[in-house]
Amino acid sequence: MPSCIRICSAIVLFSKLFFHLFVFLSAVVDSVEQMTTCDSDNSNIHRLHCEVGVIAVDQALYGRSSSVVCAEGRPSQQLVNTQCARQGTVDALRTRCNGKKTCVVNINTFRNPDPCVGTFKYLQTNFTCFPAITAIACEGSLLQLFCESSIQVISVFNAEYGRRDRSTCSYKRPSNQIQNVECLSPNEIVSNRCNGLNSCTIHASNGVFGEPCRGTHKYLEVAYACVYG
Ligand SMILES: *[C@@H]1O[C@H](CO)[C@@H](O)[C@H](O)[C@H]1NC(C)=O
Repeated sequence: MPSCIRICSAIVLFSKLFFHLFVFLSAVVDSVEQMTTCDSDNSNIHRLHCEVGVIAVDQALYGRSSSVVCAEGRPSQQLVNTQCARQGTVDALRTRCNGKKTCVVNINTFRNPDPCVGTFKYLQTNFTCFPAITAIACEGSLLQLFCESSIQVISVFNAEYGRRDRSTCSYKRPSNQIQNVECLSPNEIVSNRCNGLNSCTIHASNGVFGEPCRGTHKYLEVAYACVYG
């Protein structure tokens, strides 16, 4: 009888693990998203959004790799070059958008230098909605990460100390402290401290992360998942 209990609980544990792995994988696989914004003077805004989870950019292109995308009403000579890709587009999108639920990028930032003069271009991003938990702490406060299940541990996907938008941690702040939204400082500190732990507390401060942009009120934004260790 005692050995049956051990075996049975092993079976239950195994099927639980399998179930969670399955849910996790299907959630990842099912949510590949694509956003395409044709370049023109009246559409500058490229907006990525995840209903569930956070953005993980897989591929991004500013230029043209297809003759049929954003082709409507365009003369054919603007569509024939399908080898046009601006260098660094995917890195720029990852830096700005990974780990966020919503991300707005202005195409203007990719226009110069023009990667292919005379070709009508578009910005296209393929991304996954990664089933992560997001946690934010304003500068000066403590961020707590934790996993509800005691047999799960933290796995940090993305951590930024800085400012990427004007609304987060803006309450009662003078506007000059929230204007700089280019204060991007991804870091490994949170993953080094918290990965593999069931819970973890970290101070959102210059003392821990250094000073990425003087005069700006910052915040620590972390996207993480709870996984079986
Ligand atoms: C996004 O995925 C589609 C389908 O796989 C592919 O045709 C397209 O080229 C991809 N876009 C980028 C920017 O890589």
